[in-house]
Amino acid sequence: MITVSAPGKLMLFGEHAVVYGYPCITTAVDTRLTVTIESTHDSKVSIDAPGVKDTRFVDAAIALATTEWHIHHGGFRLTTKSPFSGCYGFGSSSAVTVATLKALASLFQAEIDDRKLFDAAYNVILSIQGAASGFDVASAVFGKTLYFVGGGKVIEPLTVGDIPLVVGYTGVKSSSTDFIKMIAAKRERYPEKVNRIFLGIAKFVDQAKEKMLSGDWERAGCLMDFNQEYLRDLGVSSEKLEVLIRAAKDAGAWGAKLSGAGGGDCMIALAAAGVRQAVEEAITHAGGEVVHVTPNTQGVRIDP
Ligand code: PMV
Repeated sequence: MITVSAPGKLMLFGEHAVVYGYPCITTAVDTRLTVTIESTHDSKVSIDAPGVKDTRFVDAAIALATTEWHIHHGGFRLTTKSPFSGCYGFGSSSAVTVATLKALASLFQAEIDDRKLFDAAYNVILSIQGAASGFDVASAVFGKTLYFVGGGKVIEPLTVGDIPLVVGYTGVKSSSTDFIKMIAAKRERYPEKVNRIFLGIAKFVDQAKEKMLSGDWERAGCLMDFNQEYLRDLGVSSEKLEVLIRAAKDAGAWGAKLSGAGGGDCMIALAAAGVRQAVEEAITHAGGEVVHVTPNTQGVRIDP
Protein backbone atom coordinates (compact mmCIF):
# COMPACT_ATOMS: atom_id res chain seq x y z
CA MET A 1 0.00 0.00 0.00
CA ILE A 2 1.21 3.52 -0.72
CA THR A 3 -0.07 6.97 0.18
CA VAL A 4 1.04 10.04 -1.74
CA SER A 5 -0.01 13.62 -1.16
CA ALA A 6 0.21 16.69 -3.40
CA PRO A 7 -0.32 20.33 -2.41
CA GLY A 8 -2.85 22.82 -3.71
CA LYS A 9 -1.69 26.05 -5.36
CA LEU A 10 -2.37 29.73 -5.68
CA MET A 11 -1.41 31.94 -8.58
CA LEU A 12 0.44 35.01 -7.25
CA PHE A 13 1.10 36.85 -10.54
CA GLY A 14 0.62 36.31 -14.27
CA GLU A 15 -2.60 34.34 -14.86
CA HIS A 16 -3.94 34.13 -18.42
CA ALA A 17 -0.76 35.56 -19.98
CA VAL A 18 0.99 32.34 -18.88
CA VAL A 19 -1.29 30.29 -21.15
CA TYR A 20 0.38 32.11 -24.08
CA GLY A 21 3.96 31.37 -23.08
CA TYR A 22 4.57 34.26 -20.68
CA PRO A 23 5.83 33.79 -17.10
CA CYS A 24 3.86 33.59 -13.87
CA ILE A 25 4.60 33.11 -10.19
CA THR A 26 2.78 30.34 -8.34
CA THR A 27 3.00 29.06 -4.78
CA ALA A 28 2.06 25.65 -3.35
CA VAL A 29 -0.28 25.69 -0.35
CA ASP A 30 -0.48 23.17 2.47
CA THR A 31 -4.00 21.92 1.81
CA ARG A 32 -2.91 18.51 0.53
CA LEU A 33 -4.84 16.03 -1.56
CA THR A 34 -4.06 12.38 -0.74
CA VAL A 35 -4.12 9.32 -2.99
CA THR A 36 -3.82 5.82 -1.51
CA ILE A 37 -3.29 2.76 -3.69
CA GLU A 38 -3.61 -0.73 -2.32
CA SER A 39 -2.87 -3.84 -4.39
CA THR A 40 -5.63 -6.44 -4.46
CA HIS A 41 -5.57 -10.13 -5.32
CA ASP A 42 -7.77 -9.90 -8.38
CA SER A 43 -7.22 -7.92 -11.59
CA LYS A 44 -9.87 -5.28 -10.93
CA VAL A 45 -9.13 -1.57 -10.64
CA SER A 46 -11.55 0.25 -8.36
CA ILE A 47 -11.60 3.98 -7.72
CA ASP A 48 -13.19 5.77 -4.81
CA ALA A 49 -12.61 9.51 -5.17
CA PRO A 50 -15.10 11.38 -2.96
CA GLY A 51 -13.33 14.76 -2.85
CA VAL A 52 -12.55 14.86 -6.57
CA LYS A 53 -15.16 16.39 -8.83
CA ASP A 54 -14.00 14.70 -12.01
CA THR A 55 -12.51 11.19 -11.99
CA ARG A 56 -11.48 11.45 -15.65
CA PHE A 57 -8.12 12.76 -14.43
CA VAL A 58 -7.51 9.64 -12.33
CA ASP A 59 -8.64 7.37 -15.21
CA ALA A 60 -6.35 9.17 -17.68
CA ALA A 61 -3.41 9.06 -15.26
CA ILE A 62 -3.81 5.28 -14.85
CA ALA A 63 -4.06 4.86 -18.64
CA LEU A 64 -0.90 6.91 -19.19
CA ALA A 65 1.09 5.00 -16.57
CA THR A 66 0.04 1.72 -18.18
CA THR A 67 0.67 2.62 -21.81
CA GLU A 68 3.58 5.08 -21.64
CA TRP A 69 5.45 3.98 -18.53
CA HIS A 70 4.60 0.32 -19.16
CA ILE A 71 3.56 -0.24 -15.59
CA HIS A 72 2.17 -3.75 -15.33
CA HIS A 73 -0.11 -3.65 -12.39
CA GLY A 74 -2.45 -6.27 -11.11
CA GLY A 75 -5.65 -5.17 -9.48
CA PHE A 76 -5.68 -2.27 -7.06
CA ARG A 77 -7.98 -0.03 -5.10
CA LEU A 78 -7.38 3.72 -5.35
CA THR A 79 -8.90 6.13 -2.85
CA THR A 80 -8.55 9.88 -2.59
CA LYS A 81 -9.01 12.30 0.26
CA SER A 82 -9.19 16.01 -0.29
CA PRO A 83 -9.70 18.90 2.08
CA PHE A 84 -10.35 21.33 -0.78
CA SER A 85 -12.23 19.43 -3.51
CA GLY A 86 -13.23 21.68 -6.42
CA CYS A 87 -14.05 24.78 -4.43
CA TYR A 88 -11.50 27.55 -3.67
CA GLY A 89 -9.78 26.84 -7.03
CA PHE A 90 -6.78 25.27 -5.31
CA GLY A 91 -6.23 22.87 -8.20
CA SER A 92 -7.72 19.53 -7.20
CA SER A 93 -7.49 18.19 -10.78
CA SER A 94 -3.76 18.75 -11.08
CA ALA A 95 -3.09 17.57 -7.51
CA VAL A 96 -5.00 14.31 -8.03
CA THR A 97 -3.32 13.69 -11.39
CA VAL A 98 0.17 14.23 -9.97
CA ALA A 99 -0.49 12.21 -6.80
CA THR A 100 -2.00 9.29 -8.79
CA LEU A 101 0.95 9.14 -11.20
CA LYS A 102 3.49 9.39 -8.38
CA ALA A 103 1.71 6.66 -6.37
CA LEU A 104 1.58 4.30 -9.38
CA ALA A 105 5.25 4.89 -10.21
CA SER A 106 6.31 4.30 -6.61
CA LEU A 107 4.15 1.24 -5.94
CA PHE A 108 5.10 -0.46 -9.20
CA GLN A 109 8.73 0.70 -9.13
CA ALA A 110 8.97 2.81 -12.26
CA GLU A 111 11.82 5.31 -12.18
CA ILE A 112 10.16 8.62 -12.87
CA ASP A 113 11.93 11.86 -12.00
CA ASP A 114 10.08 15.10 -11.27
CA ARG A 115 10.43 16.49 -14.79
CA LYS A 116 9.01 13.30 -16.28
CA LEU A 117 6.21 13.40 -13.74
CA PHE A 118 5.44 17.01 -14.68
CA ASP A 119 5.38 16.23 -18.43
CA ALA A 120 3.10 13.22 -17.95
CA ALA A 121 0.65 15.00 -15.63
CA TYR A 122 0.59 18.07 -17.91
CA ASN A 123 -0.32 15.83 -20.86
CA VAL A 124 -3.16 14.31 -18.86
CA ILE A 125 -4.50 17.77 -18.00
CA LEU A 126 -4.18 18.99 -21.61
CA SER A 127 -5.96 15.92 -22.96
CA ILE A 128 -8.99 16.58 -20.77
CA GLN A 129 -9.04 20.33 -20.33
CA GLY A 130 -7.64 21.67 -23.56
CA ALA A 131 -5.62 24.90 -23.15
CA ALA A 132 -3.74 25.18 -19.86
CA SER A 133 -0.32 26.49 -18.90
CA GLY A 134 0.62 23.69 -16.49
CA PHE A 135 1.48 26.03 -13.60
CA ASP A 136 -0.81 24.08 -11.26
CA VAL A 137 0.85 20.80 -12.25
CA ALA A 138 4.27 22.33 -11.57
CA SER A 139 3.12 23.51 -8.14
CA ALA A 140 1.81 20.04 -7.30
CA VAL A 141 5.06 18.36 -8.42
CA PHE A 142 7.75 20.77 -7.26
CA GLY A 143 5.94 22.63 -4.47
CA LYS A 144 7.50 25.81 -3.03
CA THR A 145 7.17 29.06 -4.96
CA LEU A 146 7.96 28.92 -8.65
CA TYR A 147 8.72 31.25 -11.51
CA PHE A 148 7.03 29.31 -14.28
CA VAL A 149 6.91 29.92 -18.02
CA GLY A 150 3.86 28.57 -19.90
CA GLY A 151 4.11 24.90 -20.82
CA GLY A 152 6.97 24.36 -18.36
CA LYS A 153 9.66 25.96 -20.53
CA VAL A 154 11.10 27.36 -17.28
CA ILE A 155 10.36 25.97 -13.82
CA GLU A 156 12.50 27.93 -11.38
CA PRO A 157 12.09 27.61 -7.61
CA LEU A 158 12.30 30.98 -5.87
CA THR A 159 13.93 31.19 -2.47
CA VAL A 160 11.53 33.52 -0.76
CA GLY A 161 10.95 34.00 2.95
CA ASP A 162 7.54 33.82 4.60
CA ILE A 163 5.00 35.22 2.15
CA PRO A 164 2.67 37.58 4.07
CA LEU A 165 -0.33 36.29 2.15
CA VAL A 166 -4.01 36.66 3.01
CA VAL A 167 -6.52 34.58 1.05
CA GLY A 168 -10.23 35.37 0.70
CA TYR A 169 -12.75 33.05 -0.96
CA THR A 170 -15.61 34.77 -2.79
CA GLY A 171 -17.96 31.82 -2.29
CA VAL A 172 -18.42 31.75 -6.06
CA LYS A 173 -17.09 28.74 -7.95
CA SER A 174 -15.89 29.70 -11.39
CA SER A 175 -15.00 27.66 -14.44
CA SER A 176 -11.39 28.20 -15.50
CA THR A 177 -12.10 26.58 -18.86
CA ASP A 178 -14.83 29.13 -19.69
CA PHE A 179 -12.58 32.05 -18.81
CA ILE A 180 -9.65 30.65 -20.78
CA LYS A 181 -11.98 30.32 -23.79
CA MET A 182 -13.28 33.84 -23.31
CA ILE A 183 -9.75 35.25 -23.33
CA ALA A 184 -8.86 33.19 -26.42
CA ALA A 185 -11.89 34.67 -28.22
CA LYS A 186 -10.93 38.21 -27.13
CA ARG A 187 -7.38 37.69 -28.28
CA GLU A 188 -8.58 36.56 -31.67
CA ARG A 189 -10.78 39.63 -31.98
CA TYR A 190 -8.42 42.20 -30.51
CA PRO A 191 -4.96 40.64 -30.87
CA GLU A 192 -3.01 43.87 -30.43
CA LYS A 193 -4.78 45.01 -27.30
CA VAL A 194 -4.71 41.61 -25.60
CA ASN A 195 -1.07 40.93 -26.50
CA ARG A 196 -0.15 44.37 -25.16
CA ILE A 197 -1.83 43.48 -21.87
CA PHE A 198 0.00 40.13 -21.74
CA LEU A 199 3.33 41.87 -22.29
CA GLY A 200 2.51 44.32 -19.50
CA ILE A 201 1.59 41.46 -17.15
CA ALA A 202 4.84 39.64 -18.03
CA LYS A 203 6.84 42.74 -17.13
CA PHE A 204 5.15 42.93 -13.73
CA VAL A 205 5.81 39.23 -13.14
CA ASP A 206 9.53 39.74 -13.71
CA GLN A 207 9.57 42.76 -11.40
CA ALA A 208 7.57 40.86 -8.77
CA LYS A 209 10.12 38.04 -8.89
CA GLU A 210 12.91 40.49 -8.02
CA LYS A 211 10.88 42.12 -5.23
CA MET A 212 9.93 38.76 -3.73
CA LEU A 213 13.53 37.51 -3.83
CA SER A 214 14.69 40.61 -1.97
CA GLY A 215 11.79 40.40 0.52
CA ASP A 216 10.29 43.71 -0.58
CA TRP A 217 6.67 42.73 0.01
CA GLU A 218 5.43 46.29 -0.09
CA ARG A 219 6.59 46.70 -3.69
CA ALA A 220 5.37 43.21 -4.53
CA GLY A 221 1.96 44.27 -3.20
CA CYS A 222 2.02 47.32 -5.41
CA LEU A 223 2.70 45.06 -8.40
CA MET A 224 -0.33 42.96 -7.41
CA ASP A 225 -2.45 46.09 -7.78
CA PHE A 226 -0.98 46.75 -11.24
CA ASN A 227 -1.52 43.12 -12.25
CA GLN A 228 -5.15 43.39 -11.09
CA GLU A 229 -5.69 46.46 -13.29
CA TYR A 230 -4.74 44.40 -16.33
CA LEU A 231 -7.00 41.54 -15.22
CA ARG A 232 -9.85 44.03 -14.92
CA ASP A 233 -9.08 45.26 -18.46
CA LEU A 234 -9.23 41.68 -19.69
CA GLY A 235 -12.70 41.44 -18.16
CA VAL A 236 -12.04 38.51 -15.80
CA SER A 237 -12.65 40.23 -12.48
CA SER A 238 -16.09 40.22 -10.82
CA GLU A 239 -18.06 42.46 -8.52
CA LYS A 240 -17.50 40.17 -5.56
CA LEU A 241 -13.76 39.96 -6.23
CA GLU A 242 -13.59 43.75 -6.49
CA VAL A 243 -15.47 44.20 -3.20
CA LEU A 244 -13.05 41.89 -1.34
CA ILE A 245 -10.00 43.44 -3.01
CA ARG A 246 -11.21 46.95 -2.08
CA ALA A 247 -11.89 45.85 1.52
CA ALA A 248 -8.40 44.38 1.86
CA LYS A 249 -6.81 47.53 0.43
CA ASP A 250 -8.86 49.87 2.62
CA ALA A 251 -7.80 47.87 5.67
CA GLY A 252 -4.15 48.53 4.82
CA ALA A 253 -3.00 45.67 2.57
CA TRP A 254 -0.01 46.52 0.39
CA GLY A 255 -1.81 45.11 -2.63
CA ALA A 256 -4.51 42.68 -3.71
CA LYS A 257 -5.70 40.84 -6.80
CA LEU A 258 -7.75 37.90 -7.95
CA SER A 259 -5.96 34.55 -8.16
CA GLY A 260 -6.60 32.12 -11.00
CA ALA A 261 -8.89 32.38 -13.98
CA GLY A 262 -11.22 34.96 -12.43
CA GLY A 263 -14.98 35.31 -12.08
CA GLY A 264 -14.87 33.96 -8.54
CA ASP A 265 -12.72 31.54 -6.52
CA CYS A 266 -10.17 33.41 -4.37
CA MET A 267 -8.60 36.83 -4.08
CA ILE A 268 -5.22 37.27 -2.44
CA ALA A 269 -3.53 40.16 -0.66
CA LEU A 270 -0.11 40.95 0.73
CA ALA A 271 -0.26 42.60 4.13
CA ALA A 272 2.15 43.55 6.92
CA ALA A 273 1.83 41.54 10.16
CA GLY A 274 0.48 44.64 11.91
CA VAL A 275 -2.57 44.95 9.65
CA ARG A 276 -3.12 41.28 8.88
CA GLN A 277 -5.98 40.86 11.34
CA ALA A 278 -7.67 44.05 10.13
CA VAL A 279 -7.39 42.84 6.52
CA GLU A 280 -8.86 39.45 7.40
CA GLU A 281 -11.72 41.07 9.30
CA ALA A 282 -12.40 43.44 6.41
CA ILE A 283 -12.59 40.52 3.96
CA THR A 284 -15.00 38.67 6.25
CA HIS A 285 -17.07 41.80 6.81
CA ALA A 286 -17.30 42.30 3.04
CA GLY A 287 -18.81 38.82 2.65
CA GLY A 288 -15.69 36.76 1.91
CA GLU A 289 -14.37 33.70 3.69
CA VAL A 290 -10.79 33.96 4.89
CA VAL A 291 -8.97 30.73 4.03
CA HIS A 292 -5.98 30.01 6.26
CA VAL A 293 -3.26 28.34 4.23
CA THR A 294 0.50 28.21 4.48
CA PRO A 295 2.11 29.10 1.14
CA ASN A 296 5.51 27.96 -0.15
CA THR A 297 4.94 24.38 0.96
CA GLN A 298 6.41 21.01 -0.13
CA GLY A 299 5.56 19.37 -3.47
CA VAL A 300 4.29 15.84 -4.05
CA ARG A 301 5.60 13.30 -1.52
CA ILE A 302 5.17 9.77 -0.28
CA ASP A 303 3.47 9.97 3.09
CA PRO A 304 4.35 7.59 5.91
O1 PMV B 1 -8.47 29.08 -12.15
P1 PMV B 1 -7.17 28.40 -11.92
O2 PMV B 1 -6.72 28.48 -10.52
O3 PMV B 1 -7.16 27.02 -12.47
O4 PMV B 1 -6.07 29.22 -12.72
C1 PMV B 1 -6.16 29.43 -14.08
C2 PMV B 1 -5.00 30.24 -14.52
C3 PMV B 1 -4.93 30.48 -15.99
O5 PMV B 1 -3.74 31.19 -16.26
C4 PMV B 1 -6.11 31.31 -16.46
C5 PMV B 1 -4.94 29.16 -16.76
C6 PMV B 1 -3.63 28.39 -16.73
O6 PMV B 1 -3.67 27.18 -17.03
O7 PMV B 1 -2.59 28.98 -16.45
